[in-house]
Amino acid sequence: MTPTADSAVQLFERLTGSAPERVWSAPGRANLIGEHTDYNEGFVLPFAIEHRTYAAVGRRRDGIIRVTSTFDPNPVEVALVELPALFGGSPGDAVRVGDVPEWAAYPIGVAWAALTAGGGAAPSVPGVDIAISSDVPIGAGLSSSAAIEGATIGALDDLWALGLTPLEMAKIGRTAENHAVGAPTGIMDQVASIMGQTDAATFLDCRSLEARPVDLGFAREGLSVLVIDTQVTHSHSTGGYRERRESCERGAREMGVRSLRDLTVGDLERAKGILDDVTFRRVAHIVTENQRVLDTVDTLRSEGPRAIGGLLVASHVSMRDDFEISVPELDTAVTAALDSGAVGARMTGGGFGGAAIALVEHGRIDATKAAVAAAFETAGFREPHQFTVTPSHGVLRDA
Ligand code: GLA
Repeated sequence: MTPTADSAVQLFERLTGSAPERVWSAPGRANLIGEHTDYNEGFVLPFAIEHRTYAAVGRRRDGIIRVTSTFDPNPVEVALVELPALFGGSPGDAVRVGDVPEWAAYPIGVAWAALTAGGGAAPSVPGVDIAISSDVPIGAGLSSSAAIEGATIGALDDLWALGLTPLEMAKIGRTAENHAVGAPTGIMDQVASIMGQTDAATFLDCRSLEARPVDLGFAREGLSVLVIDTQVTHSHSTGGYRERRESCERGAREMGVRSLRDLTVGDLERAKGILDDVTFRRVAHIVTENQRVLDTVDTLRSEGPRAIGGLLVASHVSMRDDFEISVPELDTAVTAALDSGAVGARMTGGGFGGAAIALVEHGRIDATKAAVAAAFETAGFREPHQFTVTPSHGVLRDA
């Protein structure tokens, strides 16, 4: 057991006075490429990281769900029968998030989504105590929220004998995020966290929801992924993320397609004549990004990871100039890493802050970190938090 798993167990013991029945965990993720393409039914290529969230859990004799976490000293409890009133009768109904603190809306929202999934009568299940501890950095664009959702759904599937498939678990996580927390995100993070495999990324077609592992070969080629967390925090339940999603929907409508997935790079010339400048650039990012994901998968197979640098950089430029979701700190991180010899670099996740990733030779990690730190200092930015990540396995039972 890791120290983070131990702290979930200790928290559980303090809460209940007894040992947990199970411990489940799920990882955060970094996205190698394919940003904002998930809710456009496009392609993504994320990988799970070794930072994980642990849920120590046990059944209760009553019908209460009680959650506690290392983020907040106060446990939150709700009767399972009250969940529909708290979050809306079924997914899609009005959201009433204000009644529980945001961190607790993730695990409690997962319980609600699990009980309402499928639309039939909720299964009759016992109450549950859940103690959560995490070492996934929060607000860094590494999906600390999907990690909470993944650990919770793994544990509930087990304790409540729900018999869920990995894809059903991911959808429940997304429902919790969209309707209990109120963030209009896609399904990439949940799939990455639940289905991740060691040394591989998960290629997901967000229309068919078919997922398959793609060998990355980073370790074999002597490459590491450096995460540069700018410490600029962001929230996807408000502001820019939602606006980008609306622009994409408008672009698809005006182009007469169900979603931007249905456009290819060859359609962009026509799109330019139809769409206003801003909508065109939003659309151009999504359409070219989908192609870059496919090209990355092909290039990894045919030439290996050293050949994907140009695609990573083109993705960053597209997010900076066309989708306009980067911030100066992310641009500085990418430029400094590339100047210091990184194979490729780009911001990762939803944007407006969070982290960049750089693909770096093992032996160049310290020099790259130093170059990035120096560039931040020169620009007058807060010192970034830098660490390497390894493509890791998805949700699992730890005890
Ligand atoms: C956030 C969302 C994902 C995805 C990314 C951008 O991480 O949760 O669904 O849209 O942003 O690629």
